[in-house]
Amino acid sequence: MPGIVVVGAQWGDEGKGKATDQLGDRVDYTVRYSGGNNAGHTLVVNGEKYALHLLPSGILNDSVPVIGNGVVVDLDVLFEEIDGLNARGVDTSKLIISANAHVITEYHKVMDKVTERFLGNRRIGTTGRGIGPAYSDKINRLGIRIQDLFDENILRQKVEAALEQKNHLLVKVYNRRAIEPNEILEVLLAHAERVRPMVADVTRVLNDSLDRDEVVLFEGAQAHHLDVDHGTYPYVTSSNPIAAGACTGSGVGPMRINRVIGIAKAYTTRVGEGPFPTELLDADGEKLRTDGAEFGTTTGRNRRCGWFDALVVEAAATANAFTDIFLTKLDILTGWENIPVCVAYEVNGERTDVLPMSQSDFHHALPVYEYLDGWTEDISGCRTFAELPANTQAYVRRLEELVGCRISGIGVGPSREQSVMIHDLI
Ligand code: IMP
Repeated sequence: MPGIVVVGAQWGDEGKGKATDQLGDRVDYTVRYSGGNNAGHTLVVNGEKYALHLLPSGILNDSVPVIGNGVVVDLDVLFEEIDGLNARGVDTSKLIISANAHVITEYHKVMDKVTERFLGNRRIGTTGRGIGPAYSDKINRLGIRIQDLFDENILRQKVEAALEQKNHLLVKVYNRRAIEPNEILEVLLAHAERVRPMVADVTRVLNDSLDRDEVVLFEGAQAHHLDVDHGTYPYVTSSNPIAAGACTGSGVGPMRINRVIGIAKAYTTRVGEGPFPTELLDADGEKLRTDGAEFGTTTGRNRRCGWFDALVVEAAATANAFTDIFLTKLDILTGWENIPVCVAYEVNGERTDVLPMSQSDFHHALPVYEYLDGWTEDISGCRTFAELPANTQAYVRRLEELVGCRISGIGVGPSREQSVMIHDLI
């Protein structure tokens, strides 16, 4: 039975929370496998709006929410999110967390901010949540895992080792004060007892669940083009949000993944720096931003907005082997007389139909647009494909052709019910 991965097909904020929520009650486990509280899922359930940064959206349905080993966990944020949900009557007691997940500490957040400042106009535009520094410590073998919190001796040694080099940098290069290991230890140890009952052998739990033919949903954060290996490096996050990351980030083998659902917005947005060929810097971009409420859930930054770029989504469909696409926020495009869709780029005077291999080319790519007829009818109440206006249907069908993957679901409004399902996602 299915292991299903949901992956963003663009640069994040595609509305993955809403799409995973569609699978809701039929899912046994919902797993976050990468990233940390740099993510932002906004979910509207029964008219109530929830903004999640770290917890999987499964926290709001009956499935068991899981934080896998591939995630970096800021325990302050975790408990704040849990307390916030509990205060609104949401039960979070089923949450389990991998003992191998790494923790984000204060020094990771400090390093994130000072390095961004130091980079000046070469900055990445990170969320400032300590994500990159926590992953670099993990790869440098200087990270602190959740399981390390339960052995004070080991924890002290690891914190001291991690701080030694950072304090040199902080004081001598960045002109900041050194961080005392005790400050960090105090905070981590204060969290240890609370997190202890949540810790589980996630790999075993998930594989056992799949053995029992249950449904395991792997919920990607960020997106394909923010992947550290496959995205627009260095303007990426520091983990692997792609479908393959579900395997490394949770301990489930690739043969156990049966379905990969790409989530693509009906237009494109991006937060932070980096190439974005269809970006609109004019009133049209402003209209998309206002109509689509394109302001970050995590940092509140304005999202950069532009037209749908078929090359961007096609590249994601190929590298992730999407079986389906869920197209979100189609209702936001209502009212345009015609809607440009990027079908190719012109790079140094030559046309290319696929994403350029070299990033210098990508930076210089000029979009080649095809203009599709728009619609004026309100589509937010449509629940079947047949109910959509003919031009809306044609827009969806053309995107399918360009991207080379079927579109199985469409979002036509923010709430859970406002979806048009064409093919079942399980
Ligand atoms: P970091 O993940 O905070 O290191 O930021 C690296 C890049 O990824 C920046 O451009 C961020 O704006 C972007 N980013 C990280 N998380 C998200 C997300 O959930 N949605 C959109 N962009 C994100």
